[in-house]
Amino acid sequence: MEYWQQHPLSEPPPYVEYQGIMFPAIVPKESLEAMKTFEIRDDDVVILSSLKSGTNWMLEIVSNILGGKNESASPVGPEFSELELWPPKKQPYYIELRERPSPRLMITHMPFQLAPPGLAAPSTKVKVIVIMRNPKDVCVSFYYYLQKTLHLKTPESWEQHSKDFLDGKIIFGDYFDHVLGWWQMKDDPHFLFMKYEDLKKDFRSSVKTIAAFLDKELTDDHLTHVLTSCSFESMRKSLAESDAWRKNIVRKGIVGDWKNHFSAKESTKFDQKYRERMAGSGLEFEFE
Ligand code: A3P
Repeated sequence: MEYWQQHPLSEPPPYVEYQGIMFPAIVPKESLEAMKTFEIRDDDVVILSSLKSGTNWMLEIVSNILGGKNESASPVGPEFSELELWPPKKQPYYIELRERPSPRLMITHMPFQLAPPGLAAPSTKVKVIVIMRNPKDVCVSFYYYLQKTLHLKTPESWEQHSKDFLDGKIIFGDYFDHVLGWWQMKDDPHFLFMKYEDLKKDFRSSVKTIAAFLDKELTDDHLTHVLTSCSFESMRKSLAESDAWRKNIVRKGIVGDWKNHFSAKESTKFDQKYRERMAGSGLEFEFE
């Protein structure tokens, strides 16, 4: 039985506020402070995203491309103390990652301005893959994730949640700030920007792009293996048998689920904010 099933939470732990941004309690202030000096290495591979954008899908793809080469231990984020458990049972991951042998594969949701300097202004050969997704589907995915994840607060209602999301009152900070913050790195050769919608549209060529960025030549067999083991269906099956927090990751896996949730008024408000915030950035998403 999982730890959290034996110790159900009477209520979720309070969020942590740091530099005006709300973080879940599993991202303690100590770790956020430690990001200022967290060292990035030459052979690190980092998957970076705002939450619910396909992080774990990308992680599975990258792990499969690298064939376990960058996984001396399971990939975690340096800002976390735990991924699901409360209270944390171990030392924060930034300490463990400091000691972890290279090559390391990591994930992070840190906003640009609070990220380790080795990511926001790389001076090593680090490879950073950013996975991004349209804000309406992110908002929906978040809604279900918050309900299922025990250390997070269940939204009062869809209406309240979508409003909070649009107002930037969401863990790891405002969606637009997050995406546009990292988009500043779009021309930096350490970075590869991928969109969830493009992966859905052309998985094969997306995987090839990711492999090329990682300097990995894929044989046809290897490519087929990546495509099969990272398909929605196989991830749904494999994660269903996984640990508690990963069980909640795979849900519907489509583009455009927002249409089943947004009222016309909510959609118009989102569109308006999207246009305002994205204006001039050159960044665009597909919504269906
Ligand atoms: P939905 O909730 O819209 O279904 P993250 O890993 O950043 O938390 O993102 C979770 C989202 O990625 C979920 O979206 C999940 O279903 C989707 N996802 C995970 N694996 C996927 C796959 N193999 N193919 C398509 N979508 C996937």
